[in-house]
Amino acid sequence: MIHLNTAGAGLVPAEVRQTMAEVLDREAATGCYETEAFLDGIVNDEVYRRLARALDAPVADVALFDSATRAWCAVVPRLSLGPGDRVWVTPYEYAGNLISLFNLRDRTGCVIEVVPTLPGGDLDLEWMAAHIADDVALVSVTHIPSGCGIVNPVEEIGRLLAPYRCFYAVDACQSIGQLPVSVARIGCQLLTGAGRKFLRGPRGTAFAYVAPELRAALVPEFHDLHVARIDSAAGYRIDDHSARSLELAERGTAAVAGLNTALTLFEEGTPFDHKEVFRALRATVEDIPGVELIAPGTEQSGILSFRHPDAEAGTVMARLAEQRVNVWKIVGHHTPLYMAERGVETAVRVSAHYYNTLEEIEIFGRALRGVVGVRT
Ligand SMILES: Cc1ncc(COP(=O)(O)O)c(C=O)c1O
Repeated sequence: MIHLNTAGAGLVPAEVRQTMAEVLDREAATGCYETEAFLDGIVNDEVYRRLARALDAPVADVALFDSATRAWCAVVPRLSLGPGDRVWVTPYEYAGNLISLFNLRDRTGCVIEVVPTLPGGDLDLEWMAAHIADDVALVSVTHIPSGCGIVNPVEEIGRLLAPYRCFYAVDACQSIGQLPVSVARIGCQLLTGAGRKFLRGPRGTAFAYVAPELRAALVPEFHDLHVARIDSAAGYRIDDHSARSLELAERGTAAVAGLNTALTLFEEGTPFDHKEVFRALRATVEDIPGVELIAPGTEQSGILSFRHPDAEAGTVMARLAEQRVNVWKIVGHHTPLYMAERGVETAVRVSAHYYNTLEEIEIFGRALRGVVGVRT
């Protein structure tokens, strides 16, 4: 099997699977709460330290969630905005984040503005520099979107925004594990990501970095019992003001322990050294007559999307699957501001990671040529 769908979910390493299986076995043999207590040092300490190192963030500012959307929704809807506030998004914003922003707009009267792009698809940083002002309350930038491989210059944008009042949110779902991600260098106050993609963690794992000043600015909504305690008939007190105060108490121990193992492998590995495979992937797809690449921007990652006039994306995916090659059919409305506006309803997304080899890319290329009817 050739897995070219890490942008959906990466292949879980044997060690991660092993950790999860051991946790489940232990839970069945000794009890779930008892297993959690046994693994307390890992699931309540080590995994946070590893995550903090992976993000270059203070450990008190990272929290775990069961999806990146849940991480986003634990923070963004609680921003205290009003009609005078502007929120900037880019055309590469993820649809789920946008839905929550639309609700925030409808509730608070804030205005959402879309940062324009240059003709090649790069974000117009000059426009940003010219228009940023203190009525911009939030700027949201997706590091790498889910529908195409552009790498947005999140560090440069962070420097540009630094003197201003706005909070800066970065969606690192598709970049964490694929590119170096440092919240210290980016200068953001919120960064969300998923464990299951390029970090190769289990499904149902995700995280956020939430800076103390952003946590302090959130409208209180709910605190679960791992951090809060009702100490009178009238109210409660919070014992832990770290980013973990944004979490819910209940989690899957196997998933959290599995993420810890994935983070361990991430720290020990060299996951950033796979540019050759990316280049081969692009060259392979580009070489096919009739292919239309959906690859805006000058800097590209291991994600590549394309369409072919003779083969609908779902058919390409199914026919490649018959040959044991995993790619994915993406839908434009998941990255609506870019894709839907350009009339891209569906496309094939191919995403490579360090476990993909040049030989696999060659096999994929041959299979793809067969599917779209190109003679080799
Ligand atoms: C860029 C981006 N942001 C957010 C998400 C949402 O992640 P989750 O499914 O964990 O909520 C995804 C999922 O693919 C994504 O690609």
